[in-house]
Amino acid sequence: MCGIVGCVGHGDDTLDVLLDGLETLEYRGYDSAGVALVGDSLIVKKREGRLERLREAIETSDRPGGTLGIGHTRWSTHGPPTDANAHPHTDESGRVAVVHNGIIENYQPLRDKLEADGVTFTSDTDTEVVPHLIAAFLQDGLDPEAAFRRALDRIEGSYAIAAVVAGDDRIYAARNDSPLVVGVGDGRFYLGSDVPAFLEHTRDVVFLDDGDLVVVDADGWQVTDADGAPAEKEVTTVTWSAEQTGKSGYDHYMLKEIHEQPTALRQGLSGRLDELAGTVSVEELSGIEAPGAVQLVACGTSYHAALYGVELFRQAGIPAQAFLASEYATGPAPVLEDGIVVGVTQSGETADTLSALREAQARGIETLAVTNGVGSTAARECDHALFIRSGPEIGVAATKTFSSQLIALNLLVETLAPGDRGDTRTLVSALRDLPGDIQEVLDETAAETVVEENAGRDAFFFIGRGENFPVALEGALKFKEITYEHAEGFAAGELKHGPLALVTDRTPVFAVVTGNDERARKTIGNVKEVEARDAPVVAVTDGASDVERYADHVLSIPETHPRTAPVLANVQLQLVAYHMANQLGREIDKPRNLAKSVTVE
Ligand code: F6R
Repeated sequence: MCGIVGCVGHGDDTLDVLLDGLETLEYRGYDSAGVALVGDSLIVKKREGRLERLREAIETSDRPGGTLGIGHTRWSTHGPPTDANAHPHTDESGRVAVVHNGIIENYQPLRDKLEADGVTFTSDTDTEVVPHLIAAFLQDGLDPEAAFRRALDRIEGSYAIAAVVAGDDRIYAARNDSPLVVGVGDGRFYLGSDVPAFLEHTRDVVFLDDGDLVVVDADGWQVTDADGAPAEKEVTTVTWSAEQTGKSGYDHYMLKEIHEQPTALRQGLSGRLDELAGTVSVEELSGIEAPGAVQLVACGTSYHAALYGVELFRQAGIPAQAFLASEYATGPAPVLEDGIVVGVTQSGETADTLSALREAQARGIETLAVTNGVGSTAARECDHALFIRSGPEIGVAATKTFSSQLIALNLLVETLAPGDRGDTRTLVSALRDLPGDIQEVLDETAAETVVEENAGRDAFFFIGRGENFPVALEGALKFKEITYEHAEGFAAGELKHGPLALVTDRTPVFAVVTGNDERARKTIGNVKEVEARDAPVVAVTDGASDVERYADHVLSIPETHPRTAPVLANVQLQLVAYHMANQLGREIDKPRNLAKSVTVE
């Protein structure tokens, strides 16, 4: 959580580079923001609230000058969002400024000791111990790099930290369990907790590892490991463009990203389908043997993708279970023999998912990350990584990455447990057609009308069975996350075991019914149950069954393979959530209390 940016080598535009970088990172946290610039002196500006408030504060005061600086956008963990708790934090003399993502677990004893030594703290944050420690070591005569390293030796926890010192022309930064990347430009260098922070300036990136310390100045960057030994690092050129991280004319990133799904899926499938042979071939998966069993670990939307993955593995005859990552590593470890643990995580940085994967690795189990985060912690720590290739997703609500995860899981299952030749050929052809099918949904959706006619109701329920059960859960999560309305997803058959008590004429029920098999027919039975209680019914369907007869509204999807139908149904529900949130005037790209990358457990 939280965003860090830094730059060296710019002139008068240093402040703008930092503020623009923070704007691209605001999805990581947005309850306060701040910058520190080093010129003749060290100047810090910070404000509670959105970045806009910081910009306004800067406009109405002296514009800080300087040729290097760091910035931060915060998602609070220690202390409420206030000006004082906003980063950067400084020592008492204002000589050292620090920004930090993560949590310093031993901050309280460090703070007690510093206070006993006479240091006065001005914030409630865990971070503030760091500038005071650096200042104390500078006071002892250490140079800034040594003082920074000594401060890191004292702290425990997860962090990406960057520090600047007045009168010094370098940025010092380090990572442990929280992402940090270096951008390499021509005589200009950058730091970011994520690549979009500096994508406008360079696509050449160095991904840091845990324990790395980097020093950046106008001459370049040097990385050392935790012991201070030089660390070899590769410069990777990312294929994302700055344009891809802008809104491209859409009102919100979320809407843009919903509309990017045809492209995202084409990217995810490119070079992985052999349409002539009707087979799937994924280079990254070539080293994995067919497992005896699979456990999938994930959070939130990615957990819904994992549930869909379970269904696919079971259909392929491989026993599979999905676990909420936050539950996986905290109790007795679930038994797994001759199996693989798959972490589904778009960011590759979710702390709960990383913990679960590490728990599996500690037990000697092979691990695979299904992720969008090339260079992410999950991708680097797992034995294997399958990249979903969605491109950057800025809106906090995951949309295109969810669809890409579903597709990647299909590729994974077909690779590890290839089905009957004819079945695979049919699936390959459905996957090939899927981007076009999504476009058809986007072009013809009736989601806006459905929203207009169902606004102002008491609650919104979503039901589905089999591979459509995760779609029901995801439909409800997206809806509640961005509309702040009460929404719940259920396995259709579970309704009558309790939730039916909530169903009235003021609770629309979205029923996902695709195909016309036994599951579809049973779900239609559940639709009749809610219809009998006068609930407005919205059927999301491919028209294969007669569910439309019992529905007040229909959101249609093209006919497709049973495995790709959930992707199309979900696009309709993404649009429903988006249009309802838009109608209610919500902050769609930055829902309250949430952040894009959840790097705390
Ligand atoms: C909801 C959403 C979250 C994430 C969850 C896991 O729209 O985006 O529920 O899915 O925080 O994130 P990743 O996939 O990055 O591990």
